[in-house]
Amino acid sequence: MKIMSIAGARPNFMKLASIAKAAEAHNLKAAARGHDKPDIHHIIVHTGQHYDEKMSKAFFDELGIPKPDINLEVGSGSHAGQTAEIMKRFEEVLVRELPDALLVVGDVNSTIACTLVAAKIEYPPSHHRKRPVIVHVEAGLRSFDRDMPEEVNRILTDSLSDLLFVTESSGVRNLQKEGIGAEKVHLVGNVMIDTLIDHVDKAKKSKIKEFLAINKQYGLVTLHRPSNVDSLQSLEPILQALHTISQDIPLYFPVHPRTLNKIYQFGLTDICNWRFMQEKPSAKAGSSLYILPPQGYLDFLNLTAEAAIVITDSGGIQEEATFLGVPCVTLRENTERPVTVTEGTNYLIGTDPRKILTTVHAILAGQKKDAKIPQFWDGKAGARIIDVILAEVH
Ligand code: UD1
Repeated sequence: MKIMSIAGARPNFMKLASIAKAAEAHNLKAAARGHDKPDIHHIIVHTGQHYDEKMSKAFFDELGIPKPDINLEVGSGSHAGQTAEIMKRFEEVLVRELPDALLVVGDVNSTIACTLVAAKIEYPPSHHRKRPVIVHVEAGLRSFDRDMPEEVNRILTDSLSDLLFVTESSGVRNLQKEGIGAEKVHLVGNVMIDTLIDHVDKAKKSKIKEFLAINKQYGLVTLHRPSNVDSLQSLEPILQALHTISQDIPLYFPVHPRTLNKIYQFGLTDICNWRFMQEKPSAKAGSSLYILPPQGYLDFLNLTAEAAIVITDSGGIQEEATFLGVPCVTLRENTERPVTVTEGTNYLIGTDPRKILTTVHAILAGQKKDAKIPQFWDGKAGARIIDVILAEVH
């Protein structure tokens, strides 16, 4: 079976790592049973949505993901421009490679672009299938906020998919309500957590805290949602609140390129401390809100696992913090990952600076949630997915 996986943006890579590993493990087992050819021919297509060394290649290297077979090199653009460019370039690849299954992960523009191409493609009449079976990994998540580009991508990808693999039970309910047949939907756990489990011991050996001279309690921050960073009105009060918190506990903030651009554009550099960046903009001294370059997987996992608190607007980090038992404060009004709130360590609090300060202070004063690890977040999601694909795709 020829399975083609798509990866485009940073949060896709840890998910792809689990799938690639499970496919390889399956082939090794089959070889041990005497199969002379691998059962699975796994092809990786990188769309090039993320392209900086630190946003892409570093993850392939650290996670041992095979080098992409094909790179579409689309780069950045408007939503329409980027999606259209991926579609145009991917169509050529699909008609050349004719995979049995197209596997997409998550909710980024690369996910919907390739799904849309696969849903409409027509394989040559001589081929035994009309188009590839579309497999969506991390299906069913809903923020119910259609202003989020990812929510649009999720809804459309799920509605076009033939096999839907879900990380938490809310996803199963959402798909049921949208009329997606139960036979297509499989609750299998979380491939991103597979990768975390595989790498957590290695991450413990990271030297990042020595490099940053961290020798006491600290918090970790990430921010990149357009709704939080793309306007001065939203970004400035958040940074001011973080600055206030950093007077009690140092905050380390690996900055997404989108957010870095906005900090400059809005003239907010002086709220932050630039000690660890190549850039040294004019800033007032003394802030303990430390801006860092984007971090690699292992260093970031190390920083997350040992933080006293994580403050974020990322989707995946809410899940990683829940798995690691680290309190997570999510600066959003909604989450598509509600299990991290109902069962995990996540506090979903929006962006009101007073609420940020009171929540963070309560956590630092010892407030704790009675958290547990969600069902099937056990390191075996990728293997379950490969088993179902082999059983269902004929
Ligand atoms: C994308 C995803 C988002 C995901 C995030 C993780 C969509 C709609 N959004 O958002 O769901 O959480 O990735 O990072 O797919 N840039 C660089 N170097 C890079 C990549 C981007 O400098 O390697 C800069 C460019 O200025 C670019 C901007 O970041 O225009 C935004 O990149 P883009 O991929 O459009 O969206 P993200 O904000 O990264």
